[in-house]
Amino acid sequence: MTANHPAEVAAHYATEQHLRTRIETHRRYTVGPDLEASLDELLRLNGQEALLDVGTGPGEFPGRLRAQGHRGRLVGVDLSAGMVEQASAHQPGVEFVQASADALPFADATFDVVTARHMLYHVPNVAAVLTEFRRVLKPGGRFLAVTNASTYLSELWAAVAEAALSEPSLEAVRASRGSFAAAFSELNGEALVQDTFGHIGVSFSHSALVFPDAQPVLDYLASLPSWHNLSGPEQERGRAALGQVLRPLLQDSGWRVSKTLVFLRASK
Ligand SMILES: C[S@@+](CC[C@H](N)C(=O)[O-])C[C@H]1O[C@@H](n2cnc3c(N)ncnc32)[C@H](O)[C@@H]1O
Repeated sequence: MTANHPAEVAAHYATEQHLRTRIETHRRYTVGPDLEASLDELLRLNGQEALLDVGTGPGEFPGRLRAQGHRGRLVGVDLSAGMVEQASAHQPGVEFVQASADALPFADATFDVVTARHMLYHVPNVAAVLTEFRRVLKPGGRFLAVTNASTYLSELWAAVAEAALSEPSLEAVRASRGSFAAAFSELNGEALVQDTFGHIGVSFSHSALVFPDAQPVLDYLASLPSWHNLSGPEQERGRAALGQVLRPLLQDSGWRVSKTLVFLRASK
């Protein structure tokens, strides 16, 4: 899959199943700075802001803010009806709306804060979406995007590349990584945000996934859209090839896969 192919993105996120596997992988195996703590530090919310989270998925971010006492309006937008249904059922006190990031159903200057967490690489026209984010921000309102650095999970992708030498169908899985970095990462995100907002703040967070055994690695890869394009026999052979590659990597202390996130900030 290409990261920002609309039909493939819609199909992948029709339900939260695959995203849930990745969320749980990060929750269980991350070592190092916590994403939520880093975001809170960057946003420094006073609790009164009207905040819009775009590409909210199951809505856990605005749900957490509400549970922690945020008093201002909280809205989560997602393209997927399934995500909106899931979020509405589990995150009380947050408005969830099905809409596309490039056509937000809100008046100009509605929000104090707009966040876009791990979603801009799914958007075909990032510049148009950033313009839409700026439109719905109040003057002085703030924008924060989180995305994966181009080096994200490098060791994992090196293992997939090695396994592809014995199981060529894995090459398509390996190649899918590049489309995410090309769509929205530190390589182009800085210029895109700068062009829309006229300035940009960029920071990085370095953490890691430490896997105790092969199963969660295989589960993570099997949650990726590119894996679903493999036939049943290709998936079977792919798992075997990856198992061979992972065996020597999984030492007693676990296999460390580095994970760098990029935060891009701007204001209107
Ligand atoms: C990787 S998930 C991130 C979910 C959540 N923000 C998080 O960090 O866990 C990407 C989400 O963006 C949504 N999405 C993709 N393209 C979108 C678009 N054009 N407009 C709104 N949401 C979109 C997907 O449906 C999916 O729920």
